[in-house]
Amino acid sequence: MVRETSLAADDFVYPLFVTHGRGVRKPIASMPGVCQLSVDQSIAEAELAASLGVPAVLLFGIPASKDPIGKENFSPHGVVAQAVRAIKQAVPALVVITDVCLCEYTDHGHCGVLNTGGEERPHPRLPEGYLLNDETLDVLDRVAVAHAEAGADVVAPSGMIDGMVRSIRTALDAANFAHVGILSYSAKYASSFYGPFREAAEGGPRFGDRKTHQMDPANAREALREAERDVAEGADMLMVKPALAYLDVIRLLRDRFGSHPLAAYNVSGEYAMIKAAAANGWIDERAAVLETLTAIKRAGADIIITYHAKEAAQWLK
Ligand code: PBG
Repeated sequence: MVRETSLAADDFVYPLFVTHGRGVRKPIASMPGVCQLSVDQSIAEAELAASLGVPAVLLFGIPASKDPIGKENFSPHGVVAQAVRAIKQAVPALVVITDVCLCEYTDHGHCGVLNTGGEERPHPRLPEGYLLNDETLDVLDRVAVAHAEAGADVVAPSGMIDGMVRSIRTALDAANFAHVGILSYSAKYASSFYGPFREAAEGGPRFGDRKTHQMDPANAREALREAERDVAEGADMLMVKPALAYLDVIRLLRDRFGSHPLAAYNVSGEYAMIKAAAANGWIDERAAVLETLTAIKRAGADIIITYHAKEAAQWLK
């Protein structure tokens, strides 16, 4: 009667890693219970999530081949485009969100176009290998439109590229996808908790890090500035990522941007910590998961993107 925070299956978004092939369910060692799935298997998983009351999935793709700008991600034959079409056909009511970033698709593993070519590089003043912000926007636009063409309901740019929301919004509108929403990774930190994801999505950087564009874990006021920009550029929903080490940032954005739905990403490393401790018998998994998810909601998230979605939805039934 007096409980302030409630948790339910419809708070969750369930991430799926889609790969080429048929009948593939390739387990990810550092994320027990999570697999890379071929399109047919991703349909089954999406159907299961929907039957448990989870309203949305978030798709990441593992491409057949990688190149400097991640071409597969804007191809209609790309693995995510295929999965979107298949899932929307099988479970039309399920919201399909797609990740709009390049790191899983580029041969260098970075989230955008790089300044390469030695003496001939496009920006001689910037170092070799530096991520080029504006050149990346053009590619993100093509990816977002390709996903919308496949039937995505919402696109989620995760690269922290400056101007990505305005650029994608403009591209979507010009292609007659005004109805497709944008969930922006507004405050995404350069975090150590993405380790297992990089195994899952095969998208770790081959060199360097993401600190020129992802946020410094020491900064909270900067998150407000990032979110302000996203709101001004037309984001429909905001996000804080990771969740657990940033509950204060979730609260800050909730208080400041009450008009926008706020998502929090309970990331791979947070998932792996609970799974590892539970596997060793050091923690009560069910209690720890529900406590964690409740805390993320209490901090102010409306939407929780979590690999625990399926299990938590079962427990909450
Ligand atoms: C980048 C992206 C990452 C995650 C989601 N999108 C990795 C990164 O920025 O290095 C991490 C999600 C997780 O750890 O669960 N496309």
